Amino acid sequence: MIQTHYKEALQDPVFTTIAKAAAELSLESYVIGGFVRDLLLQRGIPKDIDIVAVGSGIDLARKVASLSPGKPEVTVFKNFGTAMLKYQDKEVEFVGARKESYNRDSRKPVVENGSLEDDQKRRDFTINALALSLNPDNFGLLIDPFEGVKDLTSKLIRTPLDPAITYSDDPLRMLRAIRFASQLNFTIERRSLEAISENKKRIQIISNERIVDELHKILMSEVPSVGFSLLHKTGLLALILPELTSLQGIEEVEGQRHKDNFWHTLEVVDNISGTTDNLWLRWAALLHDIGKAPTKRFDKKIGWTFHAHEFVGSKMVYKLFKRLHMPLNEKMKFVQKMVLMSSRPIVLSEDFVTDSAVRRLIFDAGDHVDDLMTLCEADITTKNPRKQKKYKNNFHIVRQKIEEVEARDHVRNFQPPVSGEEIMKTFGLQPSREIGMIKDAIKEAILEGEIPNEYEAAKAYMIQKAKSMGLIE
Ligand code: CTP
Repeated sequence: MIQTHYKEALQDPVFTTIAKAAAELSLESYVIGGFVRDLLLQRGIPKDIDIVAVGSGIDLARKVASLSPGKPEVTVFKNFGTAMLKYQDKEVEFVGARKESYNRDSRKPVVENGSLEDDQKRRDFTINALALSLNPDNFGLLIDPFEGVKDLTSKLIRTPLDPAITYSDDPLRMLRAIRFASQLNFTIERRSLEAISENKKRIQIISNERIVDELHKILMSEVPSVGFSLLHKTGLLALILPELTSLQGIEEVEGQRHKDNFWHTLEVVDNISGTTDNLWLRWAALLHDIGKAPTKRFDKKIGWTFHAHEFVGSKMVYKLFKRLHMPLNEKMKFVQKMVLMSSRPIVLSEDFVTDSAVRRLIFDAGDHVDDLMTLCEADITTKNPRKQKKYKNNFHIVRQKIEEVEARDHVRNFQPPVSGEEIMKTFGLQPSREIGMIKDAIKEAILEGEIPNEYEAAKAYMIQKAKSMGLIE
């Protein structure tokens, strides 16, 4: 039985204040969009509230502010006819109901006033067009002219209008459809999916920032491959992240095949999403193999190779972040580092795990050694249970070794036990190449396990090294 009244869900004083303000202005007002959707899906009470007024949304926002405790400031977006205010921990956005049609070359709508239903039909999906009345005669009534509740139940993404119109009105919605499918584990209606494929090129008028926002949300969903497969299927991925689609395909030469690195990548992303909510580590999983497309070669003796793909991939990370206007800060550097080091623990685990190799890994990965191990564990996608068990076990040993070695040698954030200054003072040297050489030699000796990571040992080693370099007798 579908519930049609949601009075209880609107107990928060923010709703009674809006209702009061609307009544004073003799306006109808409704809660609409994500708040209603998430309420019906029982995804918790959302902090963002969208209000539609049949009349001026800006006037309603101002009235609400004047009736609210602390008289919050109203931010007005005149061009869009919207206004926003903060009510305690809630962010409330107001818009006047409108009939819209969009300019073909931008997302800027041409706005005309309309009824609630005009407004609902101009929204992206039926599940986002659900409205709850805040009017005194039917407070809490669910208004659902496009069978949004039915679509919520059957887990369907469907547009209120012909999908060609909805997506062409605002091409960002193509990504939103895929994002919701991934976030909520919904299916996109067939006609809608076809319309996305047909309109995919229109994504070019959308800003990179908005595209990246949706990519983040897809990546943060429980099973991100749902979203990325849809992006791929509709042709959007090739326009947004061509580095990934280039990984698709299996080639065979002289009976030797390599794995499909695109589908492998999606498996890795799903794996890592089961163990971490770190967005940037998920990005690293998504990009960890992008260097494989440009480095792929077939060698008659060794078969398929992807020589230095980690290095090439880490350079590509920078270009990709720059192109999509993503931050070129420590987040990007982290992703680069993960991509660059993505094969290191694997190489390690294939062999007998020596202390010195582990020390080098800890030294190079620094604070990110755990994240690197998480990435490498997610990278195990073999379907062979025996191999799967073996690799997992090897990584388990590497992790144990990391703990042991780090507890003993403290090389994670390595600070040389003898400073450059001390070297200069001891041998009466000016800043020079020799200082760097001695420092490096001490570091190498510690990482190799020739000496412990301690002051006395390092000092003795320094003197020995200076002698061998002919700096002292
Ligand atoms: N909307 C739309 N077309 C868009 C963006 C938004 O029709 N391109 C409408 C939908 O009705 C949506 C509402 O505006 O529900 C609010 O949009 P937004 O806050 O961006 O998304 P939510 O649906 O609230 O979901 P989320 O917070 O998960 O992004």
